[in-house]
Amino acid sequence: MSARLIDGQAIAAAIRDDVRGRAEALRAAHGYTPGLATVLVGDNPASATYVRMKQKACAGLGLRSVPHVLPADARQPEVQRLVEALNADPSIDGILVQLPLPGHLDEESILSAIDLEKDVDGFHPINIGRLAMRNRTPLFIPCTPFGILRLLEETGVTLRGADAVVVGRSNIVGLPAAMVLQKADATVTLCHRHTRHLARHLRHADIVVVAVGQPELVTGDMLKPGAVVIDVGINRKPDASRPNGYRIVGDVDFESARAVAGAITPVPGGVGPMTIAMLMHNTLRAAERHAERQRLATLLPAT
Ligand code: GUN
Repeated sequence: MSARLIDGQAIAAAIRDDVRGRAEALRAAHGYTPGLATVLVGDNPASATYVRMKQKACAGLGLRSVPHVLPADARQPEVQRLVEALNADPSIDGILVQLPLPGHLDEESILSAIDLEKDVDGFHPINIGRLAMRNRTPLFIPCTPFGILRLLEETGVTLRGADAVVVGRSNIVGLPAAMVLQKADATVTLCHRHTRHLARHLRHADIVVVAVGQPELVTGDMLKPGAVVIDVGINRKPDASRPNGYRIVGDVDFESARAVAGAITPVPGGVGPMTIAMLMHNTLRAAERHAERQRLATLLPAT
């Protein structure tokens, strides 16, 4: 058997088309262009690249992006003041603080300072708490887990009652992905570096999400036949046959896994394009909510 490929490029393109159309409608109805502020602290090259990709995606969809770059030694009050200024700026609908922040900064305080209505990354503790709890709905779902959910939905996977294993418990991907899947009524096991028998857990999983940053950790022999495999990893693997000396591989050994799985995301072209597409979706939703609040405010009697 060879697994069906889950085409993240195509699914992300459809999401971007939807955002483009809704942004145009917002402009036509309100003369208003959604705005995303990006905050980059320091000069981590990977973070700078991600932020550039987010700005480029905005430009392609008719959204404004407003970049803010602070030096690596920026102090806590300086970052907090910037977030507060962006909260107060009515031309900004979404605030994205690129992670990781330099180690001397208090990430939780900074993420907590973001206005809930502008928390398009979904990392505010209240949004995360609502994601975790029953009968609560977050305003925004973190972008990569949201992208994973969309990939599973588009693949036609039944989440209710499915056995799902998430490998990796980072605050950005693994942990919120597990929360998203349990909210969708899957039975979720969260594996991590101290998990004793990873293969034993994986063997029973209908859905496998791997987000650990370890090249080809999960191999086909660990999987249940027919499992749906979502590979979040993007790793460089030395490859002398390539001009640049490496190739990009995921956290799943693609060739052995595709022989066993029912469906699998490729790397690249699976989860990767979804993260930014969902950020665009969240930003557009923030702008739509903003426009609706303004519309309602004009209906209120003057005091
Ligand atoms: N760093 C890696 N992924 C992300 C993300 O989705 N959002 C933010 N803010 N930082 C990240």
